[in-house]
Amino acid sequence: MSAQPSLAPAPPAPTRSPRSLRERAVGGVKQRVRWGLGHGLPSRLMHRAAKKGDLQGQLVVRSESSDSSGLWPVIEQVRASGPIHKSSFAYVTVSLPVVREVLTSNDFHAGVFLPGEGPLGKLALWAEEPERIGPLNPPSLLVVEPPEHTRYRKLVTRVFTVKAVEELRQRTQEIADRLLDDLEARAAAGEPVDIVPSYCAALPVTVIAEVLGVPEADRQRVLDFGTAAAPSLDLGLSFREMREVEAALDDFRTWLIAHLEHLRENRGDDLLSRLVAIQDEDGGLSQAELLATAGLVLAAGFETTVNLLSNGTALLHEHPEQRALLREDPSLWGNAVDEVLRYDPPVLLTGRTALRDTTVAGQQVTAGSVVTTLLAGANRDPEVFTDPHTFDVTRENARDHVAFSAGRHYCLGAALARMEGEVGLKALHDRFPDLAVVPGGTRRPTRILRGWETLPVRLS
Ligand code: HEM
Repeated sequence: MSAQPSLAPAPPAPTRSPRSLRERAVGGVKQRVRWGLGHGLPSRLMHRAAKKGDLQGQLVVRSESSDSSGLWPVIEQVRASGPIHKSSFAYVTVSLPVVREVLTSNDFHAGVFLPGEGPLGKLALWAEEPERIGPLNPPSLLVVEPPEHTRYRKLVTRVFTVKAVEELRQRTQEIADRLLDDLEARAAAGEPVDIVPSYCAALPVTVIAEVLGVPEADRQRVLDFGTAAAPSLDLGLSFREMREVEAALDDFRTWLIAHLEHLRENRGDDLLSRLVAIQDEDGGLSQAELLATAGLVLAAGFETTVNLLSNGTALLHEHPEQRALLREDPSLWGNAVDEVLRYDPPVLLTGRTALRDTTVAGQQVTAGSVVTTLLAGANRDPEVFTDPHTFDVTRENARDHVAFSAGRHYCLGAALARMEGEVGLKALHDRFPDLAVVPGGTRRPTRILRGWETLPVRLS
């Protein structure tokens, strides 16, 4: 594995191919339909259901607020109603064993799907833009199942094994130290620093860019694509938000095509160069498979870890006694990262669709039903975690959380994220032991991805 930055020049800036007037008009109608079926209609139904007391509806409505505190009373109501709750639209579970049962079951397909039959399903199929890459668009790993899933996943797994990631630890430390040197200069001026762009985002994007061979000149652009596309996981976007997300995904695709083409001519020892080489072999990846796999690994590589670092920084500020424990015993940092992931997970929930009639926690679930697995709720299951609402870096079973999901789709980057969290948070607090969050921070507006958009801190 290469952890060296590629010195190759950046590919040209993205340009979109011209489309005829008619194509643009049809494209506009399809976009309206996608918004209506994917956001407008479900959002309206959820809001209506929430008003009538439906718990799934209330979860969706409360997740629209970037402040998670409103979610907890609803999550606890779901918990009180039993291991799996049937709402008007879907099942929802916050029980850790049941979340694991669903995520590891062969009776479920990853993702949430409208049935292809029926007028709405047909309309959805017509409005699809199959070329658009996105985390929830097939053939993204996140929404395909075996045998395709096994094939794609095998191609990228090797790079993210615990052993391979340990080899990256030293390089991650160097990157963190360099970023902290820059911060130190700014800290000397005594002004608060927004720790999100300057550290929490910069660290994981630099690491994943080096692993994947993205040239330094392109990193800010990739970061901007990722931030603009992050709401693509959310339900209930406004039409304008959805258009912005789609435009960002299209620009990302254009950049990725040019970048992969560039790597074809200038092979390095990075993961993307190897994926390109595999594509060129007989029976290798198709262009769509290559783009989806490369795009997901690149974006997932920093869009979540930025939240782990910002949530961890905020939590440690709120709990000075936990920080003191880490100062006394630095071997606790690894466990502290798992406790941050358990307590304030960067991914709120995921979903599965039943492929056939089945049972979950003894309850009948019919084919086509959706089960929402609320990872944040499962992480505070009192049957598994003592005093689940307490943030405790010494918690013995902190690692039993499902912040990285479970089963076939278990996060491919979990070892990398844990290592980056440990190195990143420890280096920050070692360098600035008096770090203090100052008022004015804002949470990200995204609903599934939870973290801080801005987090001003005084470093010393
Ligand atoms: C704290 C950081 C992270 C969190 C909380 C996180 C969380 C998750 C979750 C919950 C899933 C599964 C979703 C589902 O089951 O539907 C997932 C899948 C995935 N993650 Fe992560 N992730 C993190 C970091 C990373 C990193 C650094 C990478 C980079 C390699 C990465 C790459 C992926 C990929 C490629 C998948 C799809 C796996 C599959 O479907 O087989 N993630 N992640």
